[in-house]
Amino acid sequence: MCGIVGYTGKNNAREILLKGLGRLEYRGYDSAGVALAGESGIYIQKKKGRLKELDAKEIPSTNIGIGHTRWATHGKPSNENSHPFSDCTGDIAIVHNGIIDNFIHLKEDLINKGHEFTSETDSEIISHLLEEHFNGDLVDTLKIVVKMLKGSFAICALQKDSKNIAVARNQSPLVIGLGVGENFVASDVPAILDYTNEVKYLEDGDVALLTPNEVRIWDSQDALVERDVVEIQWTIEDAEKGGYEHYMLKEIHEQPKAIHASLLGRLGGFTEVDLGKYDTEFIRLISCGTSYHAALVGKYLIEDIARIPCTAELASEYRYSSPSELHPFTILISQSGETADTIAAAKEAKRRGCKTLAVTNVMNSSITREVDEVIFTHAGPEIGVAATKTFTTQVIMMYLIAIELGLKTKRLLRETAQEYRDELRRIPRHVRVLLDRSEDIERVSEKLIGADDIFFVGRHLNYPVALEGALKLKEIAYIHSAGYPAGELKHGPFALLTNRTPVVAISVKDHTFEKMLGNIGEIASRDSPIIAVGDHDPELEKLSDDLITVPSVPTLFSPILVNVVLQLLAYYTAYKLECAIDKPRNLAKSVTVE
Ligand code: G6P
Repeated sequence: MCGIVGYTGKNNAREILLKGLGRLEYRGYDSAGVALAGESGIYIQKKKGRLKELDAKEIPSTNIGIGHTRWATHGKPSNENSHPFSDCTGDIAIVHNGIIDNFIHLKEDLINKGHEFTSETDSEIISHLLEEHFNGDLVDTLKIVVKMLKGSFAICALQKDSKNIAVARNQSPLVIGLGVGENFVASDVPAILDYTNEVKYLEDGDVALLTPNEVRIWDSQDALVERDVVEIQWTIEDAEKGGYEHYMLKEIHEQPKAIHASLLGRLGGFTEVDLGKYDTEFIRLISCGTSYHAALVGKYLIEDIARIPCTAELASEYRYSSPSELHPFTILISQSGETADTIAAAKEAKRRGCKTLAVTNVMNSSITREVDEVIFTHAGPEIGVAATKTFTTQVIMMYLIAIELGLKTKRLLRETAQEYRDELRRIPRHVRVLLDRSEDIERVSEKLIGADDIFFVGRHLNYPVALEGALKLKEIAYIHSAGYPAGELKHGPFALLTNRTPVVAISVKDHTFEKMLGNIGEIASRDSPIIAVGDHDPELEKLSDDLITVPSVPTLFSPILVNVVLQLLAYYTAYKLECAIDKPRNLAKSVTVE
């Protein structure tokens, strides 16, 4: 999730750029950099890692500069691949968001003309193209250069001994912030909202010039145009939440996009990891918290789809367990990649001679350095402490891994694998349908207010979803809740059932459905209010007080949809109870201590 900030004016550009980039940090990045234009040249400081590690004070500050946070696409995270990039003379520097599709051809051409490149990125060609075609005017030259580019871009460029910033946009956002005697540009409003709330959004094809006292914009036909001045009504915090009241709600709603991103390029198999080269007689999944529930879903999927024996274990337990003769292929799941117990478990698995794979959402996170291979979930940054879209994309990875293993072991037919992949492709659409029915779920959440205890029950693949539903409610609504396999309630928890203990019963029409109906009947006879979540069925409707149906999918794919309902149920319950939804008491997004 790359970020851009630019400034020209009378104040300390370095401080403004660093603060702006800091405002974009939550989106995630793997390296950062700034370029400041001075009389004698352009000073660039850039580095792989966090913004605070960027020793920006090592370069002199001026009143004009551009900054960037990079989320690697072309070329791994490294100092060399970080932005800004300069041309061969060092007189021009650029930052870029997006992807230049035709960069290979342009780069070859530039190399033949004698240009020297310092990175593997597509972005670096822009500074060299500006140098190659420079006609004495930066913005004019940028207009020539953007015509050569195919793909998406938000570009900011500056040159030494000038107060001008030239910018261009195509399919990648860029917004200009208007000040008095100073102007700003950024990929996202939060980066400049500390300084101005008057902005102009650029449109695709626009090229613009910023000086301290002027902003001029040309459209794709090179006509000078006016873009409306928009007054931003949000605060910094609101802006980062994209208009949602809480990050958690925003992240729940981002799930269709996140699922799509995690599937992108992978529906024909993983390009980054060859699972076929590992010994997969037996598989062990290890994780903590919500990620453990994704692991449990994964266990069922790997057993059902690939027919490989699999266990899901808690990292904090595994690390102190006794080693055995077996050396299972070990998959560590962690959204943050920083959980101390999971990292320790990765080290322990390696020490025991197991091959290891991490499934994580954060590039460059600690766990990526401890394992043999990594798969990224690509859910985008998640700010809410309660994991939502990262869980969903972890589960998506479990499907992909199970399918891949099934094909490698030849226990899954190619045609069936194709059907499964087609189903996965349709999931974002089904999630969207559910999100559109949020109001129904909000209404049902009333039933959970004032409850003493709440049980979540499910069977088979939806048993872990019951655990996750209960955890979400505990985390954000502070109501004691427990997830159970539906067949287990009678072995103890029945003693607690009263009309003040609602039961959320996940009931999809899989091979356990008849049994589930029996379980619900038993619960109903103890007077507990029943909220059923699952498939439409007249018998189920009769037995339950409320029935929230999910779009009809093959039951193998029901966990993701059911879980979206449970996320919303927890969210609206916590909302009504006025809880601190995004930052629940005593909890942290990543637990880096044992
Ligand atoms: C913390 C978070 C949970 C998360 C767990 C594991 O407890 O609050 O939301 O599920 O850590 O985190 P990980 O980053 O390893 O998935």
